[in-house]
Amino acid sequence: MTRDFENKTVFITGAAKGQGRGVALAFAKQGANIIAFDLGEKIEYPAYNRSSNKELEVLKEEVIALGGKIEIFAGDVRNAKDVQNAVENGAKSFGTIDILFSNAGICAYCLSHELTENEWDAMIDINLKGSWLVSKYVIPYFIKQKSGVIIYNSSVAGLRGMNRISHYAASKHALVGLAKSQAIELAPHGVRVLTIHPTGVNTPMNDGLAEMEGSTPIEIAERSAGNLIPVPWVEVEDVANSVLFLASDKARYITGSQYLLDAGLLTR
Ligand SMILES: NC(=O)c1ccc[n+]([C@@H]2O[C@H](COP(=O)([O-])OP(=O)(O)OC[C@H]3O[C@@H](n4cnc5c(N)ncnc54)[C@H](O)[C@@H]3O)[C@@H](O)[C@H]2O)c1
Repeated sequence: MTRDFENKTVFITGAAKGQGRGVALAFAKQGANIIAFDLGEKIEYPAYNRSSNKELEVLKEEVIALGGKIEIFAGDVRNAKDVQNAVENGAKSFGTIDILFSNAGICAYCLSHELTENEWDAMIDINLKGSWLVSKYVIPYFIKQKSGVIIYNSSVAGLRGMNRISHYAASKHALVGLAKSQAIELAPHGVRVLTIHPTGVNTPMNDGLAEMEGSTPIEIAERSAGNLIPVPWVEVEDVANSVLFLASDKARYITGSQYLLDAGLLTR
């Protein structure tokens, strides 16, 4: 097995499950140190979120079983103190941070004009403001060492409109603007910034949305139907393969752009 990320340190938000967990395990297999950040407790919105500290502890055991090193931090990406604490103490443990996978996010269905202000704010604050906050604290390390990669997990909903998730789509479109602008600001410092845009991914988010809608995960996946390759969703491993490529030197000239992992969906 290759160890392409030996001695590199990766900060991952939303690391306790789904894509964040899959990406953390994939990096650990390739020798990277992991700084894992996730809620550690349930939040009110969306109702499917039942996060607990146990998930971070399980991830820690899994990474250690792979022979990897990991620091876990419970906190909310909306809370600057939580984020600053994780970035500074994580960086202290491993020397620095080399890669940021900014992945924590929520989703929920509702018509735009029926959303409450609290629902709108929670979506924008977690998916957009939280992503910016984490980058704010990580970027100074990247500037200092004259290298770094930021990968924001957007969505196909970051590049198209979608029914009953206008607040989600708005937050995910905004990540494109954030990433493109930071790519301009940070290119002179040797730092790359980009967004990834997966189609539906087989994760607890999809299961949670199905539960809230009283339908099955397959029905949820079919709602955003349009994958040219006839699969209901892609797997966490597909996301991990893309993220590891984009974080590697093999992608050294990829910055400011939008990487599609959409099984052809946006071609239609
Ligand atoms: N599942 C999909 O179909 C899909 C498709 C495209 C993009 N995405 C995006 O990928 C990312 C990961 O999604 P997933 O499918 O793994 O979802 P998931 O719900 O399975 O995992 C998301 C993780 O983020 C954490 N999180 C949520 N709010 C947080 C907060 N305020 N602070 C810290 N951590 C928080 C959760 O606790 C959870 O562990 C999200 O940004 C999502 O919008 C998901």
